[in-house]
Amino acid sequence: MNLTDKINKDNLPKHLAIIMDGNGRWAKQKGLMRAFGHENGTKSVRITVETCAKLGIENLTLYAFSTENWNRPKLEVDTLMRLLISSLKKELDTLQKNNIRLNCIGNITMLPDSAKKELLAVMEKTKNNTRMTLTLALSYGSREELLNAVKTICDKVKNNIISIDALDESIINQHLYTHNLPDVDLVIRTSGEHRISNFLLWQIAYAEFYFTDVLWPDFKEDDLYEAIISYQKRERRFGKTSEQIK
Ligand code: IPE
Ligand code: IPE
Ligand code: MG
Repeated sequence: MNLTDKINKDNLPKHLAIIMDGNGRWAKQKGLMRAFGHENGTKSVRITVETCAKLGIENLTLYAFSTENWNRPKLEVDTLMRLLISSLKKELDTLQKNNIRLNCIGNITMLPDSAKKELLAVMEKTKNNTRMTLTLALSYGSREELLNAVKTICDKVKNNIISIDALDESIINQHLYTHNLPDVDLVIRTSGEHRISNFLLWQIAYAEFYFTDVLWPDFKEDDLYEAIISYQKRERRFGKTSEQIK
């Protein structure tokens, strides 16, 4: 029996978010430069995107570059930006063929102009695609996102656009980069690290977590299926009792 046969298509995560980690260690294990790890990581991105679309997952968010990753050596940051540009160019066809819309979250004003231009171009070209929304978290930090939301909301309160009494969770949601996405159902982190690293702190309030030791460049279809199968075995109670759920 294939692993896919074990997946219940009626109980897929509506929003899957992945912390793609372990590229550097993958390269090091092979005696290669970190850049090779990042390059091979892009293959796992393609496989994951296509597999999610095929399965029927509507929203996939990939943590590609954090606000903290700007503190890496310049050479590595440059490599990552170059890879982003070349992947966007290379994958436009795949996105169109699979009817996938590209979206991004994060402070993209920080990206080099060439990367920003390519990103916005692919987003524009794929904006009417409907099968899946692929969101790239680029120069993304959850605390920065929340801080910006707080600032904008305060400004609106000050200018009587929103009253304090009307403030609720949905207003906060509307001011996040993820305003057009549902809450995250499942977070996968590869490479054996068990932390969130400033990713979608608000949006994961009731997400399920799946950690695997597999390093990102080794993450393939079956690893994704395993994660979804694990997710489907869980009972999500949202504070209720088990009896109430059944
Ligand atoms: C994930 O792999 C890619 C990014 C964070 C950009 P890493 O580069 O973090 O790989 P490790 O954690 O050093 O192995
Ligand atoms: C998180 O990975 C960010 C991305 C996957 C883009 P890191 O490798 O940067 O996280 P830490 O520093 O180990 O927590
Ligand atoms: Mg890492």
